[in-house]
Amino acid sequence: MGSRKSVPDLEPQKAERKGVIMAQKYLITCALPYANGPVHMGHIAGVYLPGDIFTRFLRLKGEECIFICGTDDHGVPITISADQEKSTPAAIVKKYHGMQEAAFKGLGIEFDMFSGTSTCKHHRELSQEFFLSLQKTGHIEPRITAQYYCTSCERFLPDRYVEGQCPFCGAEDARGDQCEACGNALDSLKDPKCKICGKRPEKRKTKHWFLRLDKYQDLILDWLNSKTNWKDNVRKFATEMLKKGLRARSITRDIDWGIPVPVEGAEGKVLYVWFDAPIGYISFTKELGDRRNDPDLWQMYWKGTGTKLVHFIGKDNIVFHAVIWPSMLMGQEGYILPDEIPAFEFLNFKGDKFSKSKKHALWAHDYLSLLPADLARYYLTVVAPETHDTNWTWETFVIRVNSELADVLGNFVNRTVTFARKNFGGAAPEADGRTLKPVLEKIRAAKEAMDSELSAFHFKAALAPLIELAREGNRIFDFEKPWETINASPASSGATVAACLEISAAIGTMIFPFMPESAGKIRRWLGLSEKPAPEDWKAVGSQMLKHGTKLAEPEILFAKVELAAIEAWEEKQKPQETPPPAEKGPLKVTFDAFRQIDLRIAQIMKVEEIKGADKLYRIEIDAGDGPRTIVAGLRLHYPDPASLVGRRIVVVANLEPAKIRGITSTAMLLAAEHGGKVRLLMPDGDLPPGSKVS
Ligand code: MF3
Ligand code: ZN
Repeated sequence: MGSRKSVPDLEPQKAERKGVIMAQKYLITCALPYANGPVHMGHIAGVYLPGDIFTRFLRLKGEECIFICGTDDHGVPITISADQEKSTPAAIVKKYHGMQEAAFKGLGIEFDMFSGTSTCKHHRELSQEFFLSLQKTGHIEPRITAQYYCTSCERFLPDRYVEGQCPFCGAEDARGDQCEACGNALDSLKDPKCKICGKRPEKRKTKHWFLRLDKYQDLILDWLNSKTNWKDNVRKFATEMLKKGLRARSITRDIDWGIPVPVEGAEGKVLYVWFDAPIGYISFTKELGDRRNDPDLWQMYWKGTGTKLVHFIGKDNIVFHAVIWPSMLMGQEGYILPDEIPAFEFLNFKGDKFSKSKKHALWAHDYLSLLPADLARYYLTVVAPETHDTNWTWETFVIRVNSELADVLGNFVNRTVTFARKNFGGAAPEADGRTLKPVLEKIRAAKEAMDSELSAFHFKAALAPLIELAREGNRIFDFEKPWETINASPASSGATVAACLEISAAIGTMIFPFMPESAGKIRRWLGLSEKPAPEDWKAVGSQMLKHGTKLAEPEILFAKVELAAIEAWEEKQKPQETPPPAEKGPLKVTFDAFRQIDLRIAQIMKVEEIKGADKLYRIEIDAGDGPRTIVAGLRLHYPDPASLVGRRIVVVANLEPAKIRGITSTAMLLAAEHGGKVRLLMPDGDLPPGSKVS
């Protein structure tokens, strides 16, 4: 590689013609999280941790990089949360921006810039500039379109304000702009419902500006065809969209939170959040330049040659990053295009999707109140959803942490350093070439494996050889028994220990991208700088420690974790599910209204546990009109499901069906509650199922 110092050059073709070898530099981004909630471990696993590991790895090797992120502050996701929390969009953004930033920091995810699209001072202007230059070249044009409009709320219902059935895959809870189940971008739904009031909206004419994606069909196709090394999921989503043919898409919305559309006749309309959000990658880079007093920095990265642009995203963001965003960039003057889009699949939590609304999540800040960041960083790497959806369970978390981190890695380093300190005057004993040579060979092999796997975004495979190295270290220690040889042959005992210390130093350096805090500890005990520099990476594979290096007193590197303690903590975390107190005194119901409730006697036929839901049962009942299914929170109150079968209960039979944990519940059972204790309401005598209760 040429000189490390990168040369700004705003005319890529010219530089290439001259045959100048440009220094390589990396611009790494992570998908901008919506500032409408805290981050959970699913986000971390699929986007932010891989981005951080990759950036740390490149820096460790001496590559020049910047690592950019920030919150996605605009659009319907934010206004809906503001409505739900009875707050304002700006206040919601402020609250969650702060929480997210703290969570990332706590997990050791270190962006060079973590800004936000509503606060970054460059963002509005740059987004409008993108819009205007696309308009100038005929890639944006106004059209009259029919949009969902709710007559009872008296407003348009863009994006998530309307829900219904996906016309592509039939999923039930698709949103107006995108179906999460199949990933398709939508502009129409089957059986649409207003998210605010539940009514069926109508379509009304309104003027919007469209991005003529159709004009990019061939350019994008050619460009994507050159990306033969991209992950299957990215190629699949992108080519499927192209196969259907790119269509013009509306990039403006009728809401009042966002970036004003910079043309006449667009008053009251804002840019679609997916139009302005990715531009944030650039505006935040400008902000980084301000902070570093380097106003040309952003151009060097975004317009210079020799930048590799890497977008870490989740699979739900693929079409935006692999098709729409590159089209937007192609429509500008001189911007680079994404080089890599390593999109991960999803991490589930205990067998179910993470869900904010269902309160089924492990929030990063909650995790951090219990356990060290590095344990999660390790676990999330070994169960990374690289090629398929994977699952976080506390059972496997405990097993992997205890058996791999505590018993293998931690144990090896701790016993090595402790033994060396005690028997060799608190310092590293002298190595001997014969013992050291095979050890250094093993280290070099592990380093090469890690390097090539990580360069290909195989995080799991990159970490495995490091644990294997610790295992090898333990084998050497056990086999050579330095505690026995110390008396008869202190030199050979010392040589074993020196070799094991070398393995520790190599591991302490190489695990830095994955577990920076633990890496720092190991390196400090060995008298090395806590944060490894590129020279340290280079030194891995040759002797890193000098004879006589002072060793610091180690602490336990990884304390074991206990499942029971985690479960007890989790139980305490659970939100109290008491309804909020009535605000205006008790509600009076008319007799007629009450009579409309179809109360009936039903018999419980079958009771099953629901995987991953430790409070719920799936109950089959007979309410006199064929089998029905109820999902009820009875599990803690009636731990033995069999004891419920056969009982007669009272149910509401004409309640709107509700989907709970993917199961449609078509009735509700009645129960009484007192001081946290719950008991079923059961009829006296033996009236048959279906009997009317009044
Ligand atoms: N906020 C989006 C999401 O969470 C991601 C935006 S990524 C960017 O799904 F490209 F728009 F920045
Ligand atoms: Zn409505």
